[in-house]
Amino acid sequence: MEFADTHTHLFVEEFDQDREAVIQRALQSRVRTMLLPNIDESTIESLKSFSALDTEHCFPMMGLHPCSVKDNYREVLKDILKELDSGYRYYGVGEIGMDLYWDKSTLDWQSDAFLQQCGWAVERSLGVSIHTRSATYETIKLLKQMKQTPRGVFHCFSGSYEEAQEIIKLGFYIGIGGVVTFKNSGLPEVLKRLSIDNIVLETDAPYLSPVPYRGKRNESSYIPFIAEKLSEVYGISVSRVAEVTRENSRKIFGV
Ligand code: NI
Repeated sequence: MEFADTHTHLFVEEFDQDREAVIQRALQSRVRTMLLPNIDESTIESLKSFSALDTEHCFPMMGLHPCSVKDNYREVLKDILKELDSGYRYYGVGEIGMDLYWDKSTLDWQSDAFLQQCGWAVERSLGVSIHTRSATYETIKLLKQMKQTPRGVFHCFSGSYEEAQEIIKLGFYIGIGGVVTFKNSGLPEVLKRLSIDNIVLETDAPYLSPVPYRGKRNESSYIPFIAEKLSEVYGISVSRVAEVTRENSRKIFGV
């Protein structure tokens, strides 16, 4: 049995003290594929040095996070694209997307950055990791405008059944993390109406730890808590959850 964590930021400063131990714990928990979406231009070096610690299990992505899209985003995107095409091996375009929770005034810039980066993924045949917050509708609308959409994941999904249906219809997967284990989460009821064939696992470490670590720093070794919850939701074994979600992740990111 092996798991894939399709969205984890183990390269950020929260892990400065124990990066190698964090990788070891993930491997002990049978999490053998860790996909690492970039955040912005300031995180590229730490992303690369972290990934170099274990190239067999750590797979970096390159992209600009919607919360980092500011007035200089065109310049930043040039640097991100240069890095993507530098010859260093990247396994996806991420983290990209739309976030209207913190700042609605950057909607146009965010849309432009999102569409451009989706285009890069299509041209290079890479999967994307999509972040949406208070912007699922806007994101779906943008994808529908594209002549050709990339393959990818709507990461950290916590929307409605109808939104999930739209996402799946566009050919995307649903990324499920620690939120599904929270008491009072409506997500298990939504998931029951969806097939596990559309789902991948993720932690979004260091954020959104599953129960019993809710509120603490998250890490990739906690993936089995999410898998256990899904095994309960679907009435299938944890190893079946691991197998299906890992295969889905491979279809998107090739590892
Ligand atoms: Ni993230």
